[in-house]
Amino acid sequence: MTQDELKAMVGRAALDYVEAGQIVGVGTGSTVNHFIDALAGIKDRIPGAVSSSEASTARLARHGIAVFDCNAVGELAVYIDGADEIDGAGCMIKGGGAALTREKIVAAQARRFVCIADASKRVPVLGHFPLPVEVIPMAAQRIVRQFAALGGQATLRLQDGAPLVTDNGQHILDVRGLAIADPLGFESAVNQWPGVVTVGVFAHQRASVCLLGTADGVQTLRFTPSTGG
Ligand code: 5RP
Repeated sequence: MTQDELKAMVGRAALDYVEAGQIVGVGTGSTVNHFIDALAGIKDRIPGAVSSSEASTARLARHGIAVFDCNAVGELAVYIDGADEIDGAGCMIKGGGAALTREKIVAAQARRFVCIADASKRVPVLGHFPLPVEVIPMAAQRIVRQFAALGGQATLRLQDGAPLVTDNGQHILDVRGLAIADPLGFESAVNQWPGVVTVGVFAHQRASVCLLGTADGVQTLRFTPSTGG
């Protein structure tokens, strides 16, 4: 199976976690796009979705699925999203699609995070994938130096030769060379740096379940909830 077929398989499998009558939290990325397309087939069973990006909002709308503002709804039963890496505790690196801040906001509003990913995303230790960090532009170069002091090489993400601008009007640094052995502590520490909007380690908002797409089918990994807030 190709990587895209594995993504499509877990996108469809995630429908089992959508609760009838409940608004569903929807992430961002190519795996989630498969989920959204599958969700269209059962859209009459749910009031709609809360979305983590303009891209997902547009795709949901094209399928005729209502999109609600976070502030207009209460706790969500479930948030379904992909990941760039996921470790053995359900901690993730996210933000390859630059949507990490809204993804973390919607994830924090949900009781359960169901991660959908192809098997290549499962890693022993987070950090091989360049860590995305959304930053306030005026703080970017100081944050680059702070990562250098930790042994990380941070570069500004570009799009068409210019700094990529997120849905929130900010920039993204991608940090290479980190091995994140303590995701909870790392996430807490970096979030305190002035100018950091969101660090792409999801340990406080870790996955409850991961549907991992493998050549043998969907493998379901279950994780203990975070106590880190
Ligand atoms: C977007 C994300 C995505 O979930 C992550 O990049 C995985 O993407 P894909 O499903 O395309 O492999 O965090 O900000």
